[in-house]
Amino acid sequence: MTRQECIAFLQWALPQLGLRWAGYRKVQGLVCKRLAHRLREIGVATLAEYRERIARDESERARLDALCRIPISRFYRDRGVFDALRDAALPALAGRLAERGQRTLRAWCAGCASGEEPYSLAIVWQLAVAPRFPRIALAVLASNAEPELLARAARGCYRSSSLKDLPKAWLPLAFDREDALYCVREPFRGCVAFAEQDIRIKMPTGPFDLVLCRNLAFTYFDAAAQERVAAQLAARLAPGGMLVLGSHEKLPGAAAARFAPGSHDCIYARV
Ligand SMILES: C[S@@+](CC[C@H](N)C(=O)[O-])C[C@H]1O[C@@H](n2cnc3c(N)ncnc32)[C@H](O)[C@@H]1O
Repeated sequence: MTRQECIAFLQWALPQLGLRWAGYRKVQGLVCKRLAHRLREIGVATLAEYRERIARDESERARLDALCRIPISRFYRDRGVFDALRDAALPALAGRLAERGQRTLRAWCAGCASGEEPYSLAIVWQLAVAPRFPRIALAVLASNAEPELLARAARGCYRSSSLKDLPKAWLPLAFDREDALYCVREPFRGCVAFAEQDIRIKMPTGPFDLVLCRNLAFTYFDAAAQERVAAQLAARLAPGGMLVLGSHEKLPGAAAARFAPGSHDCIYARV
């Protein structure tokens, strides 16, 4: 299969899955590689043949959908966003909870990959914010559609390449070295729970004070699915709660009215 053939196939297939080609431009190499591997695995010679297979075989369609899930993540991805969480969003949320006598800051990471994002949140909270709010505990629910990634998240051990954006001083505080891997230490694991959920089908009920939905719906989903997800996220945020998107993402039109700009371009406050 040539790259052009693969692109033509994706431009045909993605809209049928509620996904959009524009989001896949940068990661087309990864998806085409996976697709070629899948065709070899099931003994299908051409993409034309695979199209026919998709049309008549629901389970193969689900396999295609799964191979379009992009697993890329790392700790403290987009430093500016985590810095804004550390300096503004988390203290503001915790301050508001403290005033109301509430004890738990409830966060949800939607599309948590192998745990890099929820553990980053736990680390920034425990090391940089919690000392100012000793009565408040963080509870993070991290969801993902893929059981393999969730199993890796539960193990909580990573190569150094996943950690290159994390502030250096935090490395020995938050990780134990096990041979070539860095494993998240217990104090940063206890507050993170994982759930297998496809965000298009199931979401936790909430309410949440903070939702991170980064580099998932607002990059890869089509316009209708983005609107649906944005409305559902807004409904799960407590008033004044905050929504964090990826650094290249924007809220879709109608949903934007439910939010006000937050302390960073990617952070929105539920109105
Ligand atoms: C590109 S990663 C982003 C990870 C993390 N949020 C970040 O920004 O670093 C997208 C994640 O969403 C997951 N994902 C893709 N489609 C999903 C869906 N429909 N429901 C839940 N998770 C999904 C992928 O498995 C992957 O873990």
